[in-house]
Amino acid sequence: MRRAGRKANDMTPSFKVFPGLLDPAELKRVRTRLRIHFNRVGYFPKQSGIPLGRDALVYLFTSVFRLEIVASLELGRNCPISHTHSSYRCQPPTKFRSLAPHQDSAALKGTEGLTFWVPLSPINRLRPTIAFHDKRPGTVLPHIQDDAQYAVLADPRVALTPLYGLAIGDVVMLYHDTIHATHIPRTAVFYRESLDLRAIPQ
Ligand SMILES: [Fe+2]
Repeated sequence: MRRAGRKANDMTPSFKVFPGLLDPAELKRVRTRLRIHFNRVGYFPKQSGIPLGRDALVYLFTSVFRLEIVASLELGRNCPISHTHSSYRCQPPTKFRSLAPHQDSAALKGTEGLTFWVPLSPINRLRPTIAFHDKRPGTVLPHIQDDAQYAVLADPRVALTPLYGLAIGDVVMLYHDTIHATHIPRTAVFYRESLDLRAIPQ
């Protein structure tokens, strides 16, 4: 939450974990629907990130309102989840389409808001996870396009810490200036599925 008299980005952590915010059984049903949908349209698993788009399967996910409440409390404004800014990711345990360090603000071209990273797989050392830089820069750093046209930091030399120990139902909130990347543990053998759900203030 923005605090009077202090910059929002100098003392706040770059991400927050909300254990058990969402219902695991509901998320597993959503995961099954997404697999069926993206298999049918021929995406899965040829590409790692797939926009949810107008099909908005995320709206089968009734407890999404909990994320909107958290976002509204954080930003002090009404913050619905935007399906046009949200995506499903299926990351293999390899570098294929893994994301180098970046800030979501670069891809979102300055759009305000928050990203909720919602694992649809348990996050441990057997699967890809997400890694964070612990400080928020408070600005958009220079980015370049990678081979898959993702915006990634022009200078990727940044210290990142991987996050482990998440269960389905746990949610990670990050800010649009938070530096983060895909992290593939050496011991990873399974795909990781996740949602990037973006709350955009109105
Ligand atoms: Fe990202």
